Order: sequence, then structure tokens, then C-alpha cells
Amino acid sequence: MPKVTYRYPDGVARTIDVEVGDSVMFGATRNGLGGITAECGGVLSCATCHVYVDQAWCARVGPPGDDELDMLDAVAAERRDNSRLSCQIEVSDELDGLVVELPDAQ
Ligand code: FES
Repeated sequence: MPKVTYRYPDGVARTIDVEVGDSVMFGATRNGLGGITAECGGVLSCATCHVYVDQAWCARVGPPGDDELDMLDAVAAERRDNSRLSCQIEVSDELDGLVVELPDAQ
């Protein structure tokens, strides 16, 4: 099962096994990790699942879609070029080892 590492602003990191086909958001919420609120449950209408994709992974994760780009305007923390909404990142074997950083607010 692919592993995803969630890095917190205080430097703490948690590495979780996430099912192929699950989103990076579900990997966090199903395992009780804090830092991702996901108020809309993953239907791209809340922007409270914001993460920063580790720069080394950006090319493999790919860019956000048009609807996600619009929603990224609503994130609470600083928006960066590596900002993504984690409900829109589907975990695959190719993303085994993915690292995302959580913002300081959702
Ligand atoms: S969980 Fe609401 S936009 Fe991702």
C-alpha cells in the first residue's frame, strides 16, 4: 500500500498507508490525523483540505484542474505554487512515498 507522509508546520511528520484510489485527504481523515478539516467531504466545495505538495513530488502529482484552481482562491493559509486540495489528489502506486506539508490554517 502506498505511503504518504503528512508534515506539520511544527516539524512533526506522520507517515500513513493509504489505499490506492483513496485521496490524500481521506488518508488523513480516516486515520485521525489533524490538520485537514475537509468540511465538504471531498466534493471540492470547501477548500479546507489544503496541502503543499513537496517540491520533489509536484511533477508526479500533476497540476490542479480548473475547478480546483478556482477553489484554491478560498484557502485560509498562504497560497503557493505547490498548493493543492488534497481531496483531489488520488493515491496510486506511483505516488508511494508522497510528502505533503500541511498549512498553518484551514
Ligand atoms: S474536502 Fe472540501 S474541497 Fe477538499
